[in-house]
Amino acid sequence: MLRIAVQSKGRLFEDTMALLAEAGIKVSSSKRTLLVQSSNFPIEVLYLRDDDIPQSVATGVADLGIVGENEYEERGYKADIVRRLGFSKCRLSLAIPKAENYEGLQWFEGKKIATSYPNILQKFMQENGINTDIHVITGSVEISPGIGLSDAIFDIVSSGSTLVSNNLREVEVVMKSEALLIGNPEMSAEKKAVLDELLFRIEAVKAAEDKKYVLMNVPTDKLEEIINVLPGAKSPTVMPLATEGWNSVHTVIDEKSFWEIISKLKELGAQGILVIPIEKMIL
Ligand code: PRP
Ligand code: ZN
Repeated sequence: MLRIAVQSKGRLFEDTMALLAEAGIKVSSSKRTLLVQSSNFPIEVLYLRDDDIPQSVATGVADLGIVGENEYEERGYKADIVRRLGFSKCRLSLAIPKAENYEGLQWFEGKKIATSYPNILQKFMQENGINTDIHVITGSVEISPGIGLSDAIFDIVSSGSTLVSNNLREVEVVMKSEALLIGNPEMSAEKKAVLDELLFRIEAVKAAEDKKYVLMNVPTDKLEEIINVLPGAKSPTVMPLATEGWNSVHTVIDEKSFWEIISKLKELGAQGILVIPIEKMIL
């Protein structure tokens, strides 16, 4: 049985539960107890505050954890990064009152900065040779300049709307953050085997993300040209249609290059193009 610590609410909660669901792991989220066992996979979910996840994994209270890189970095506990998960992207930034004139990091010399991330900030300021007065507060950091508690803040920025509504301006991005799967460095062989199965499933979910399955009808005389436009190492599937001189072509396309490729395919005479989302992909 593998125990995974996840955020009980907040920015990572929904994406984390969605990832587990897509990996076919059933966890009842209606039971809001601290520890919930999956009904179909040897894993149990421990719901914690994000701040407590790195420590719980480092000490072995949990074997795995899903946590923001910001919390992982700040706490500095000994846990391994097993996999970057690519969701809950945000940045840790310095922000100052909008009206201030900003010409560079020197602005912060001697200033008071409110944050919940003193370690990351301290290290950054030290590396840049700036002396600041770091004021640690938990929660509602963004209101502190407005009420005269600090000159600036260092906090998570995602959409930026919290800064805007507090008349603050982001002036330096100190680090980028995303959700991480972290693990206890000393797991038993049995637990590692369960982790391998979990990673295999996560890999399949991630590989399918941003990919589309595309089907189209292609006249035989255009087949070669159209195949040349399609990306991907492996050749597409080509099947003859009942109508003489026509074929059905199936392939997988990256969402990023999607529109560009589709318009080329249309130009070349492809018809009846169907685009279907892919749920899992085993490479
Ligand atoms: C963070 C941060 C800001 C907000 C920024 O708080 O402290 O308040 O998100 O997001 P935005 O740029 O999209 O407005 P969070 O919701 O993570 O809660 P916490 O600070 O209490 O952990
Ligand atoms: Zn928090």
